[in-house]
Parts: sequence; structure tokens; C-alpha cells
Amino acid sequence: MRPKALITGITGQDGSYLTEWLLGRGYEVHGVVRRTSSLERSRLSHLYVDAAVYGQSLHLHYADLDDPTTLRRVLLRVVPDELYHLAGQSHVGLSFDIPESTCEMTAMGTLRLLEMVRDLPKPVRLFHAGSSEMFGRPAVSPQNEDTPFQPVSPYGAAKVFATQMVRIYREAHGLYAVNGILYNHESPRRGENFVTRKICRAAAAIHEGRQRELSLGDTSARRDWGDARDYVRGMWLSLQQEVPRDYIFASGVLHSVQDVVEIAFASVGLKWQEHVRQDPRFLRPAEPTNLVGDATRANTLLGWKPEIGFEQLITEMTRAELTQDGLAA
Ligand code: GDD
Repeated sequence: MRPKALITGITGQDGSYLTEWLLGRGYEVHGVVRRTSSLERSRLSHLYVDAAVYGQSLHLHYADLDDPTTLRRVLLRVVPDELYHLAGQSHVGLSFDIPESTCEMTAMGTLRLLEMVRDLPKPVRLFHAGSSEMFGRPAVSPQNEDTPFQPVSPYGAAKVFATQMVRIYREAHGLYAVNGILYNHESPRRGENFVTRKICRAAAAIHEGRQRELSLGDTSARRDWGDARDYVRGMWLSLQQEVPRDYIFASGVLHSVQDVVEIAFASVGLKWQEHVRQDPRFLRPAEPTNLVGDATRANTLLGWKPEIGFEQLITEMTRAELTQDGLAA
């Protein structure tokens, strides 16, 4: 029998790479998709149109995190061996504008899912995508799995609630449940309003004469950036262990937004000084500091380490945006 995986958030960056990773390992993959008026499935379209894949080893189901009946029905129908919970409102800046719906989906949505998993007749291994944003302004750097959470955004607070609930259900109810504490991870499939993709898209568009300038918020902000393809491998590895634990997934290296700008613009032969300007609209009411991860546990217990470096990632993301040489993603 093929192992079965169910993914919430399958249409996102991580969901699409995880789907490819699992299909490559012989899994039957099921995904939860929201029924909305716009069909946002572009990251899966190459699999969706493949008759040998879609309907054979890949299946999509309509359900919603804030509609528990629909989700329970999918869980009972699929009966997965592994459940990857990646769905949620994932934009930190936006969470200041829509805190209630962010918490409803990210915090309460995860709790609802845990309650359903607890009731399932067959045990399922659950992966929950936590975030470095939970550390906020941590007292220690780098952070590991024992570093206390001090979120500074509604998104970070919602993730803390969800992550702690996963821990509680693991300890109190004996669920096989794992939190991945994921630092920023990017790729050509990153959403367009996250800073790396925004910069890489703009650099390519300015190079091709389709855009004139790029407006950014705080370019001195620093993050620990890795490649999403490395991080989905970590998600899978974390569910293949005998004992469920939480894991940090991080590169361990800090870079600034300015570094992203310089690499992206240089990779298409542009002087960033001629095109980049600051716009206070993109500043956030609060910024985390010193978010850099110590992935020693993942390295020691899972054999995980990132394979794709920062410069390679940003260069690839910028090249993927070029349309004139047919490299568009
Ligand atoms: N989005 C955006 N747009 N960010 C900007 C801009 C801009 O124009 N200008 C500067 N920034 C700064 C942000 O203020 C932040 O300090 C940094 O760039 C990164 O922003 P994002 O790419 O939006 O990512 P994030 O760190 O807030 O959140 C991402 O990583 C988390 C893991 O730590 C998201 O993927 C979260 O879902 C994830 O949990």
C-alpha cells in the first residue's frame, strides 16, 4: 500500500514543493483547497494537467479551516498516514490589518484540526508549520527549540498559540505531532508580496523596461533566509522519526533586505541606487530582531542541512522572472 499524505495549504509555495517531494517518494497525495471565486492553483498546474498524476496519485478536495464539517469529512474520507498543516494567512505585515481573521485561521484553525485528529479512528502523524516570527525579539541569538517565544505581531502570536497547542496535544493526548519552526524560506514560487519575490520580480521587470522603480519598507531589516525546497524536505524527515519532536529549520545566516536588493539588481546588470526608494507604506508597526536559527537538532537527528545558498537562491529567483529569454517561472 502506498503511504497517504494530506496537505492543507497545498496550493502555496511549500505545499506545491512538498507535493512534488512526496509524489517522488511514491505517496498518494491529497490536498485541501478552499472553494473561492478565483482558482489559485498555478503552482500545481503542471501536475493538475498531467493525466498520469491528477486523479491517480494526486487528489484535491474542497474544504476550509473555518468550516470544520468539510475538513472532518475530507479527513475521514482520505484517512491519511501523514498530515501536513501548512494553511493559514502567512503575511506578517497584513496580520496587523486583519488580526482577527489571521488568528481565526492560524490559531483556531489549527486547534480545530487537532481536535479532529484526536478523534480519528487511525493515528495520523501531524506536521504543523510554525514560524521564527514566534520568537519576535528574542533574548538569545541564534534561537533553538527551547528559546522562549516573544511574538511582536498578531501573526506571531497566532502561531505561538497553534504551536503550543500542538505541544499540548502531543503531551496530553499522545498525538504524533511535530512543529517545524521555519525561518524565512523562498523560491521562484514565493508569493509576490513577500520581500524577496517582490525585489526579484522588480529587478527583472526594470531590466526589461516593464517597470521603472521599486518601493520598499525597511531595507535594513535582517532575516535568516533559506530555500523552500530544502525546508519541505525537513518537514518530511521530521515525520519519519520514531519520536515526535519540534525542529528548527534555518540556514543560521543573517542577511538584510538590502543584501537581497544588491544581489538581485546586480544579477541583471542594474545599479539599484537608480531604482529603489523607500515608501513608509511598507514599514510595519513592529519588527522582530535577531531572528537567526540554530538547526543543530535537525542536523543531528534528521541529517538535515540546507543545500541551496542565499546568493544562488536570489539569483535563481531573479532569472526566473525574466521573460525575454524564456526563463519565466
Ligand atoms: N513584504 C515586504 N514588502 N517586506 C518588506 C518590504 C516590502 O516592501 N520592505 C521591507 N520589508 C521587510 C519586512 O518589514 C520584513 O522585515 C522583511 O522585509 C521580510 O518580510 P517578508 O518577506 O514579508 O517576510 P516575513 O519575515 O515578514 O515573514 C515570512 O517569514 C516568516 C518566517 O519567519 C513569512 O513567510 C511568514 O509566513 C513566515 O512565518
